[in-house]
Amino acid sequence: MVEKLWGGRFEESVSDWVEEFGASISFDQKMARQDLQGSLAHVTMLAKTGILTEAEAEKIKDGIKAVEEKYEAGQIEFTVANEDVHMNMESYLHDQIGPVAGKLHTARSRNDQVATDMHLYLRDVLHQTIEKLHTLRTTLIQISEAHIETIMPGYTHLQHAQPISFAHHLMAYYQMLTRDAERFTFNLKHTNISPLGAAALAGTTFPIDRKLTADLLDFAGPYENSLDAVSDRDFILEFLSNSSILMMHLSRFCEEIILWCSNEFKFISLSDSFSTGSSIMPQKKNPDMVELIRGKTGRVYGDLVGLLTVMKSLPLAYNKDLQEDKEGMFDAAKTILTSLDVMNGMLETMTVNKDIMEKSTKSDFSNATELADYLAAKGLPFREAHEIVGKLVLECTKQGYYLQDVPLKRYQELSNLIESDIYKYLDSKTAVGRRNSYGGTGFEAIKEQIQVAKKSLL
Ligand code: ARG
Repeated sequence: MVEKLWGGRFEESVSDWVEEFGASISFDQKMARQDLQGSLAHVTMLAKTGILTEAEAEKIKDGIKAVEEKYEAGQIEFTVANEDVHMNMESYLHDQIGPVAGKLHTARSRNDQVATDMHLYLRDVLHQTIEKLHTLRTTLIQISEAHIETIMPGYTHLQHAQPISFAHHLMAYYQMLTRDAERFTFNLKHTNISPLGAAALAGTTFPIDRKLTADLLDFAGPYENSLDAVSDRDFILEFLSNSSILMMHLSRFCEEIILWCSNEFKFISLSDSFSTGSSIMPQKKNPDMVELIRGKTGRVYGDLVGLLTVMKSLPLAYNKDLQEDKEGMFDAAKTILTSLDVMNGMLETMTVNKDIMEKSTKSDFSNATELADYLAAKGLPFREAHEIVGKLVLECTKQGYYLQDVPLKRYQELSNLIESDIYKYLDSKTAVGRRNSYGGTGFEAIKEQIQVAKKSLL
């Protein structure tokens, strides 16, 4: 039986299965590096403030570095008997340098230690997330630039509504992902604060220097309130909620990609490297990876609701419930980072079937607004124009043809405002190209949108 670092006041030991229940080492070992980094800053501060002697601090620092080397070399074995990453690491330090290791925990508690590790860990994840979002946004801009004049049906209610540029559709996702990146950047502000030195909950009688440890760990500064520092996990909740919104965006995009590569649409084809086959149907090429991103959205929502529920009504300050903050964060981090990679690779390698996309805007009534606008621009009240076009659409539907097939003679029976130039206006490419209101799908408007995006992406 390993002797507990907190064993002093106990007469009986817990049984193995209870120990296993309480332990977090199976998952919090992911924060081993952050734990050592925090300890190094703490011991540096303990020496600077004279709480430990230089000699003691040097010994501890050398010990921490030696444990770090062992960890990097894969020579550390974690044990449930030492409960969590903090005590496992301290126990290794003890093996390395003997009883002086016990001085490291002066003016520190596992409560501020674990919070510090979590802040360090999440800060790194946030940087990676923002970077991957940058890559994906860059890819979207690149594809958009190549497809300004690629015409596709724009939908409402999943029915053809008005033709749009494919670049416009992609840039809509660019804008959503930009706001996601902004949300994660704001999240960094709340994560880049140091809980270290809050101790168990009330601070400490030792003359510690919390600004120094915050500086050493590159935090913007220490938490102002020691109770807040060890009690709250809102920086993680913010991450999980930002991740949920990001996954919601990705899942909508994925759903469209899944539709677009179906036999009914054929708007795009995914590269083989992002598709899989069927074990029984030889012809199958399935968009598994995008389906998985759509599916994984559910687990990230679960991670958010899980932690919100853990935190609900939890009294201050530290409670063991807080140990449940980690797995969801690790899971969401892994899920969003890999989903962003897959999404980017998939978009970079997909083939856009331009002709099929454009063709599908010619066998529909998505140019009906053009005709109504044409009449309204010539002075007919829009409501009257709408009525005329609506009736004509019904007539065409019954006869089995489209607005561009209606003879000029019939048009002129309906309104003497209609001239032979109407057919040009009914063409989907003309329809798209002319919608140059700010933020619209017109070619000039999109070029402008892309220019603005490129500037802000730098
Ligand atoms: N493993 C614990 C956690 O993840 C560390 C903090 C433990 N503190 C305590 N007082 N039991 O929350």
